[in-house]
Amino acid sequence: MSRTRIRDFHDDDLDGIVRLWEESAQDDAPPVYALSEVIASCQADHAVVAVRDDRLVGAAVGRAAHAQGWVVFFAVAPHERDDRVEAGLLDALERRMAPLGLGKLSILVADHAGALDGLTANGFEPRTQLRYLERQMPVQRRELDLLKDVGGRILPRHLWDAVSGMQLEKDLLEERLVVPLSRPDLADRFGVVPPRAVMLFGPPGTGKTTFAKAVASRLDWPFVELFPSRLSGEPGGLAAALRATFEVIGELEHAVVFIDEVEEIAARRGGEPPSPMQGVTNELLKLVAEFREREGRLLICATNFVRALDAAFLRHGRFDYVIPIGLPDDEARCAIWHRYVPEQVVAGLDFDALVAASDGLTPADIEYAARRASQEALARALRDGDTADASLHTEDYLAALGATRATVSEATAREFGDDVQTLARL
Ligand SMILES: Nc1ncnc2c1ncn2[C@@H]1O[C@H](COP(=O)(O)OP(=O)(O)OP(=O)(O)O)[C@@H](O)[C@H]1O
Ligand SMILES: [Mg+2]
Repeated sequence: MSRTRIRDFHDDDLDGIVRLWEESAQDDAPPVYALSEVIASCQADHAVVAVRDDRLVGAAVGRAAHAQGWVVFFAVAPHERDDRVEAGLLDALERRMAPLGLGKLSILVADHAGALDGLTANGFEPRTQLRYLERQMPVQRRELDLLKDVGGRILPRHLWDAVSGMQLEKDLLEERLVVPLSRPDLADRFGVVPPRAVMLFGPPGTGKTTFAKAVASRLDWPFVELFPSRLSGEPGGLAAALRATFEVIGELEHAVVFIDEVEEIAARRGGEPPSPMQGVTNELLKLVAEFREREGRLLICATNFVRALDAAFLRHGRFDYVIPIGLPDDEARCAIWHRYVPEQVVAGLDFDALVAASDGLTPADIEYAARRASQEALARALRDGDTADASLHTEDYLAALGATRATVSEATAREFGDDVQTLARL
């Protein structure tokens, strides 16, 4: 019988590495390091192999970061398992990595791995009470350039929780969008088809953009906002720029695509002569239909004027849901007040009174009132020559509220109510 030789890895050994990796992959427990990682380390880091009769029968692959080395792959074909081959591979790898001055060499193995004995016999000590965790990163490396092209980004993880109040809307978005998209297997079991496109509508400043971002954050998908006003400056015009952007988005594994104020590019068609926007609206209708063909992505459009949208746009089959987002409720207003009131005066304020007095106001109205109260208080302090401590009381805020005009007039609120009756689809 011929002898097994241990030597450094050559590129010709790749097939053998792939075979060994596949053999060591078990259905329920694939190796910790993906094949692509192992191959990358063979080529760029440190690898030794065991060969008999020109056949690769074992390998040890390592990489180093600072003073710690990791064995990213260690396997010997089952029929070749022999103390000497295992010891020889580990010894050769250690010697290859010795010049790096490593303080520690570590290896992660599956619970059932037969190689444990070989490792302990060669100076590796099992560490107990450890758990291995991993997280699939939301954007893969190859997608980074694509995302940059379309101005997409990963949003912080907490945005969903930062939306205060609005429990009805939150529950609805959770049930209709978040769960079916993040757990397609569960949706499938109940025959629920995950949505591909939704429309949010409501008066200005009610949180449509906030909700769109919160959904992306919750799904852990990149958020890509399209700005028709910016795209219209591209050579070839808006319709062509929209198409080019959607093509790039089509190459992303996942994305939440957001178009705000969509009525600007999807207003009711008709009129003589036809408005130049009609071509854009036609293009957008086609793009939405094509967008729907692929899963893993969600288009969210938002509008303040849902009744101005082209009828074809809202028809069944384009948008899965048409969801109203109304004025902030008590809890949402309370959170918005907290955001704009300076920290040092929070304790002394009667927030219930502020919440009650700001019923019917948008977040932007509340921000305006809060800033106005602060400005008035500063002016008063300057007049009185007493600027040591900020004095701001509930009455100051109530007075500022008295001078704040609601963005959403009663008529607009009534129209919104009508739209909810006639156009919402939940
Ligand atoms: N439920 C909420 N909790 C906390 N802050 C909120 C909430 N809803 C809205 N806001 C805040 O109010 C402001 C306006 O919200 P947003 O921009 O999402 O509204 P919008 O409906 O998209 O407005 P527009 O129609 O003008 O585009 C933002 O600063 C947002 O952070
Ligand atoms: Mg908005």
